[in-house]
Amino acid sequence: MKVFHIVGARPNFIKVAPVMNALKTRKHVVQTLIHTGQHYDANMSDVFFEQLGIAAPDVNLAVGSGTHARQTADIMTRLEPVLLEGRPDIVLVYGDVNSTVAAALVCAKLGVRVGHVEAGLRSFDRTMPEEINRMVTDQLADMLFTPSEDGDVNLQKEGIPAERIFRVGNVMIDSLVKLLPAAQRQNQHGLPERPAGRYALVTLHRPANVDDGEILKRILQSLLEVSQDLAVIFPAHPRTRKRIADFGLHADRLQIVDPLSYLEFLGMQSRATVVITDSGGIQEETTYLGVPCLTLRENTERPVTVSLGTNVLVGRDPDKLRSELSRILAGHAKKGTIPPLWDGRAGERIAALLAG
Ligand code: UD1
Repeated sequence: MKVFHIVGARPNFIKVAPVMNALKTRKHVVQTLIHTGQHYDANMSDVFFEQLGIAAPDVNLAVGSGTHARQTADIMTRLEPVLLEGRPDIVLVYGDVNSTVAAALVCAKLGVRVGHVEAGLRSFDRTMPEEINRMVTDQLADMLFTPSEDGDVNLQKEGIPAERIFRVGNVMIDSLVKLLPAAQRQNQHGLPERPAGRYALVTLHRPANVDDGEILKRILQSLLEVSQDLAVIFPAHPRTRKRIADFGLHADRLQIVDPLSYLEFLGMQSRATVVITDSGGIQEETTYLGVPCLTLRENTERPVTVSLGTNVLVGRDPDKLRSELSRILAGHAKKGTIPPLWDGRAGERIAALLAG
């Protein structure tokens, strides 16, 4: 059985690792890892392969950055001959990035079976590029692996037959469970001086938050306010760094650093007083870790992190951010529980469904 995995962006690497590792134990399965090259900086890509224990990709399509149409089209054009030559029995795609939808489209046109890992999530906000990617990928996929019950419900409402839907749990949490001990042992050397006590860990990269100068300025102002109460450590995505520079914004009191490796970031997350983010995956990781998370978005495609976990949506409302932060600093942070099947075994469940 030939299984191809398609990855392109940072969160994909964290999700593919447990599935590949689980499939490795099936002797009749031959795996090929294809990197589209959507993320290409060493600290956005290579370091993840090393730390997650996955071999370097067998194929790199090296598409790089571009507009959405261009990036998606380049991935499609470069992937098609690879699939025609390799003739996989199934292609697995991960998450909601441009690489995910591009690969699903190529497979569907070639009649190659597609499995979507992390299917069914919906923010119901079509201004998010990821929402378009999720909806299209799920319509095209033959096997849909969901992380939580809301995913199954969303898919059924969109007319996906129940027999294609498999609730397996959260593969991103598999990587966390496996590597948390190593992350907590990580030497913090090279990271900003961690204050003896409390710090806020910040990430920000959504186009809706960083591509508009006024909005980004207001968010940075809110973060500067936060920095009056506790240190703010902000590993900045290259896109965000670039925007801060392009708009001529300043935030000297924030400790803006380059993107961290998986282990460094996980270690920092596990010890943070609060995480402030617009990422999807980080909402999940903080819920697992029981660390308070304030999400700078109006909606989330991961509602269990709010209903069961530690996540609170503060949107772009500085008053809400302020009041939620005060609650956390006063020791009254929202308590959460870990959602069902977020147990470190989702990759194994996927492998069992695919290869017995
Ligand atoms: C992508 C995903 C997003 C995911 C995020 C994780 C889409 C539509 N978006 O967003 O869902 O949460 O990855 O990080 O697929 N850049 C570099 N070096 C890199 C990669 C990017 O400098 O290695 C810069 C480039 O200027 C590029 C910009 O970042 O134009 C944006 O990269 P892109 O891959 O288009 O989207 P992300 O914002 O990373």
